[in-house]
Amino acid sequence: MMINLSQNRNLKLFKLISGIAAQHNQSVYIVGGYVRDLLMKRQAPTDIDFVTEGNGITLAQAVAKEINPNQKVSVFRNYGTAMFRHHGLDLEFVGARKESYAENSRKPSVETGSLEDDQKRRDFTINALAISLNQDAFGELIDPFGGITDIQNKILRTPLEPSQTYSDDPLRMMRAIRFAATLNFSIEDRSLQAIKKEAARISIVSMERVMVEFNKMMLSEKPSIGLKLMEQTGLLQLIIPELTALRGIEEVEGQTHKDNFWHTLEVVDNISRNTDKLWLRWAALLHDIGKAPTKKFVEGTGWTFHGHEFLGSKMVKQLFQRLKLPLGYDLRYVQKMVKLSSRPIALIDDGTSDAALRRLLFDAGEDLEDLFTLCKADITTKNSHKQAKFKKNFEYVALKIKEVEEKDHIRNFQPPISGEEIMGLFNLKPGREIGILKEKVKEAILEGEIANDKTEARTFVIREAATLGLEPSP
Ligand code: CTP
Repeated sequence: MMINLSQNRNLKLFKLISGIAAQHNQSVYIVGGYVRDLLMKRQAPTDIDFVTEGNGITLAQAVAKEINPNQKVSVFRNYGTAMFRHHGLDLEFVGARKESYAENSRKPSVETGSLEDDQKRRDFTINALAISLNQDAFGELIDPFGGITDIQNKILRTPLEPSQTYSDDPLRMMRAIRFAATLNFSIEDRSLQAIKKEAARISIVSMERVMVEFNKMMLSEKPSIGLKLMEQTGLLQLIIPELTALRGIEEVEGQTHKDNFWHTLEVVDNISRNTDKLWLRWAALLHDIGKAPTKKFVEGTGWTFHGHEFLGSKMVKQLFQRLKLPLGYDLRYVQKMVKLSSRPIALIDDGTSDAALRRLLFDAGEDLEDLFTLCKADITTKNSHKQAKFKKNFEYVALKIKEVEEKDHIRNFQPPISGEEIMGLFNLKPGREIGILKEKVKEAILEGEIANDKTEARTFVIREAATLGLEPSP
């Protein structure tokens, strides 16, 4: 089968590579994700992989030199690869390899091989397609494992025996699930069985690489597809057991609670319809993790999960550390979302007092909209009457919050009186009284005792300071 590259935006580049490879007496092919996405008419990826039967590093250097004599090429000699950037594309060159296992060693020795040897070593048939750039067959598709048929049938299959492909590189188990989620493909049954069998080997892969795949899955249209596959194969239990701990429904005295695992997956899908923010999706994924350790049946009350948001937000930190996720702003954001995840609902139940609204505004700050997005996604009831009621309640709270914000400007709260001003007022040196007075001002504003205003804050501070035995300096 021939692929028409004449309209391809990279035609000039492909022709150049073709010519240089011919001068070096080397064959050259485009392989991997670029070919897959081209055939699936998906958005062209920003990296293109080339395989050559011969030395990949020298070919990369020759191509780079032709494009720009000063072009820097990154060389990874251990892997026999070299890459450079060109017009926003990452171009990677590798010499075709075959792996052979010495009888008494499990360590593969990498040898030079043919194109087909190289295709065999790849993860899935849809990623093992190659397009020839050789002058006598420019544009010819080479598909020894039926990748095209698999694209048509939307199925992920490995070129070799699945257990071999996965044990060669256990990250591929996560890649299978990521591709199933992002492309909406199914995983061939033999592969699924092999993943179940090999799941524990995921522990030899660095967590950073696992998370790259996990996050791509989380950014797919319907992340529950991938999360369900992870659950089904046992990978989720190994990677995020806090989530699988939410599985199951218990019954005591005829009272049950919902299965918080399946509920969580629904919340993640719901939120993914409204946001592409990775960390907000993570917040949805983790919003209930405190429920497993806090679950209790209380006579007369039923099932309770007292304090699950607080414990959950603490668990988020340990989880981020273990999963090697970013520990700065993103962690704090997810922790905050988990901690506040029940507050807007509680607000509705407790009546929307201005003080409670101001506190929520203060705690959520600039992330209030995101918190509402999370709370709306959290409504998974199938009862349409209840759905409509919850939605209406939310709109009411949102409106009230807007009113309070216009009046009190709490969202990006800046104390109306600064520590320096307080020190000046009483001729004080820095000390604990300043902190106490500032806290009192904040509390008084949130409670609605005084307005968020300098004059009122000043009068209030003078009155409160008196109780600490302080008098304004003359
Ligand atoms: N590959 C593999 N096993 C891996 C990783 C990659 O066999 N664990 C092969 C596949 O042929 C893949 C190619 O290397 O197509 C390039 O890998 P990568 O750039 O990571 O992924 P893509 O398939 O290009 O997909 P995407 O761009 O969506 O990440």
